This record gives sequence, C-alpha cells and structure tokens, in this order.
Amino acid sequence: MTDKNELAQIGVVGLAVMGSNLARNFARNGNTVAVYNRSPEKTHALIEAHGEEGNFVPSETIEDFVASLERPRKAIIMVKAGKATDAVIDQLAEAMDEGDVIIDGGNALFTDTIRREKDVAARGKHFVGAGISGGEEGALNGPAIMPGGPKESWETLGPILESIAANVDGTPCVTHIGPDGAGHFVKMVHNGIEYADMQVIGEAYQLLRYGAGMEPAEIAEVFREWNSGDLDSYLIEITAEVLAQKDPETGAPLVDVIVDAAGQKGTGRWTAINGLELGVPITGIAESVFARALSSSTAQRSAAQEGQLPAGTIQELDVDKAEFIEDVRRALYAAKLIAYSQGFDEIKAGSEEFGWDVDPRDLATIWRGGCIIRAKFLDRIRAAYDNNADLPALILDPYFEGELEDLIDPWRRVVVAATQLGLPAPVFASSLSYYDSLRAERLPAALIQGQRDFFGAHTFKRTDKPGTFHIEWSGNRSLTQTD
Ligand code: 6PG
Repeated sequence: MTDKNELAQIGVVGLAVMGSNLARNFARNGNTVAVYNRSPEKTHALIEAHGEEGNFVPSETIEDFVASLERPRKAIIMVKAGKATDAVIDQLAEAMDEGDVIIDGGNALFTDTIRREKDVAARGKHFVGAGISGGEEGALNGPAIMPGGPKESWETLGPILESIAANVDGTPCVTHIGPDGAGHFVKMVHNGIEYADMQVIGEAYQLLRYGAGMEPAEIAEVFREWNSGDLDSYLIEITAEVLAQKDPETGAPLVDVIVDAAGQKGTGRWTAINGLELGVPITGIAESVFARALSSSTAQRSAAQEGQLPAGTIQELDVDKAEFIEDVRRALYAAKLIAYSQGFDEIKAGSEEFGWDVDPRDLATIWRGGCIIRAKFLDRIRAAYDNNADLPALILDPYFEGELEDLIDPWRRVVVAATQLGLPAPVFASSLSYYDSLRAERLPAALIQGQRDFFGAHTFKRTDKPGTFHIEWSGNRSLTQTD
C-alpha cells in the first residue's frame, strides 16, 4: 500500500537487493517506510512487486523523500560503500533538519564513519554507522544490526531497528555498540571472523576430500551431522547444502565445477590491516585473507603446478577414517575458537584505542542470530564474558579451557596429517602455533631482541632487574645500562 500523505517512521535510500529487502522488512513489521532510489525504476519495481506487504511512501526526489519522514527523521543509506555514500550523506544532510538521523547501513570502513560522523554532527544532524549482517535473506527476514553513533540517536532508532532484527530467545539481535565508528568497526571484525570461519571449514573439507578421499556428497553428510553438535552454525549448515549440490548442467558435484579462486570485497582485509596496526595477533583472520589471495593468484598457481616444485615425501593417510573425521571436527572447532578469541581481542584493542567502551557480551548476544557467523557456540562466548567481562583472552575461560583439553591432541594430529599429506591447512596450523606461542614459557623474542641490539643498538630489557641495556657488540662486549 502507498500513501503520499502518511509520514514514514523510517526511510531507505538505495533500493538494490539489500536496500529493498530491508525496506520490505520494515514495512512487514508495521513501520511506514519512505523509499527512494536515484533511478526511479527501482522504486517503481519495489512498489509494484511488494507494495502490498506494508506501507511504503515512494519518492522521486531526495527532497520529497525527506519531506515524507516523521521527525526526528531517520533515513538508512543502502548504497555502494565509498563515494556514493558520501554523495547521499551530503544530500540528506542538506535537506534534513537539526536532530535528524542519517544511518549508513553499508559495509563502510570505520575510519570513514568516524570522519562522516564528525562532518554530519558539525551540520547539526546525527550520523549512525550501522553494520548489518545476514546477507539478502537476513535483510528481509531479520538481520543482526550493529549501530554506532551517538547514544541519543539510539533512543529513537532502537525500537525501529529492534522491530526488524533477528530475535533469539526474545532478545533482538541489535544494540547500540558505541559512539561514532564503533558499529562499523565491530561489523568489520565480524566479517574477519567470517573469513576465518569459512576458511577453517574449507580446510576441513580439503582434508576429508583429498586426505580421506571422500566425495562431496559424503562430506555433506558429515557436515550435516556436525551441525547438530558444538559446531552448530549457519556456515556449517550452508556448507552441507553447497557440498550436496550437483551442477545442474553436468550433474557433477557443484563444488568441482566452481573455479577455486575466492573473491573478497575487502572487509576481511581491513580487519587484518587493523589488527596489524593495533598490534593484535589476529593470525586466523589474516591467514584466511592470505588464503583467498593465494587461491586467486592463478598465474602463479598454474606455473607452480606445471613446474618442478618438489612435494617431498608425501604419506598416505594411515588412520581409521571415522577417527580421522572426528579429529578433523575437533581441529576445526579449535581453530574456530582461536579465530573468535583473536577477533574479540581486536575488538577490545579497537575499543580502547578509540574510546568506545564496547561490551563483548553485547556482541556475543547479538551475533547469536541473523548474522553470517551465527552459531550455538556464541551462547558459550556470552556465558564466558558474563562470568568475567575482563577475560584476558576468550580461550582462557574455564569452559573453553576444558574444551581445549579434548581438542588439543586431535588438533595436533590433524596438523601433522595435513603436513604429511602435503595438504595446505594454513589456519589449522597457524592457530596451533598461536596457541603454543601463548602457552610457551620462553619465546625466541629474547633472541630477536639480542639481534636487534646487535645490529641497531635497539637495547633490551633483562629478566633479573629493571632498566634498559645494551651490549657493546663491536667493542669489548661489555654491558651498559641506557635507561
Ligand atoms: C554479512 C556479510 C556481508 C558480505 C560481505 C563479505 O555479514 O552479511 O559479511 O557483509 O557477504 O560483503 O563479502 P566478501 O567475502 O566478498 O568480502
């Protein structure tokens, strides 16, 4: 239904699939929705196809769109991240009044969101960078939403977002994350974890397929079974679907027909870059980004396949198949746990760096539904932070320490097997190194400090007394205290 005279509680600018699905979700949940798209055909198409789902107020100019919103006006931008977003923000800020709220629902880089929030605030309006997860289906039926921006805007925006968000046990999967860029930062890390989650699933598949010699359909069954245990999650569920799918043209397993070069739009890469900048070892996420990049290095890969790179001694898998499958499940669980632990570390570091005060419990709560990384396991993460909001690392929660007790040996066996089989398992292996590094009483960092002091007089600290020291490496090798 459309009514030009009715004021809308919320507006959506940009009616590609995500935008129109979000608009439909608002409308289906009793909100009157103003809709606008630069080319009006998309607006007409939405009204024609779905106008009956609720109350829509379509406009052909941004001024009419703004005029059709109830005050304080609230408009969500769902356009391509980057320049297009800046242009729409500028138009909206121009046409809106003091106290109105502009929301960017795209995957914006959080530093852009910080900049935009400042600019829009200087023009007397509120700006909210909101991460929205769940893909097209989630936008329509209930996404997880991570809004940042000023707390006051949450007061007016909160109830509307709650009306469309996914819901787990009566709790909507949306909450105010923190000021300015906090929402987009957290969404960025969500996507980094998503990359790692997908990669560890991929590594498990690779081992079962080329290590245990199983067919995709058989592996689909294994994933289906895994989905009823600790690994119960959206990504495991869709993995079973993808693996069971046959190519409609040839009848071959679809996974064998798809080119093995993974794409990326950049949010995982941002997470890795930010982890490097903050000095947080997000090894699982970074390796996942590299794994996608490596898969897409097609020229190098084919040269390497045609060349003479020695494989070394490859051993056949020499274990009971059922035991191997169970080991792989546990290795997957362990590597996934590390990726989440590292992702939460990055959020903590970002929150401290930018003064956001992000509560990890909020994330564990709202990520339980709607988003791509939704998983049963998030209930455990929530419980971990409920028990101790200042956990030094997620894996140090007593429940997860207990789980690791059962995971560690299978995890080691799987990394050994991958090495002997000559199969790449970058996240399984690097996560294990991360884990062992955290546990290690002494790290070779002492040696690195010695080397740094040797060639650059970079000094070192001693284990037995305070101060900063240097050895006269090119002289008599005496010790001097420099600080
Ligand atoms: C989500 C997804 C979504 C999207 C990303 C990742 O939370 O709904 O993360 O934001 O799928 O764009 O895509 P890439 O794999 O292309 O980086």
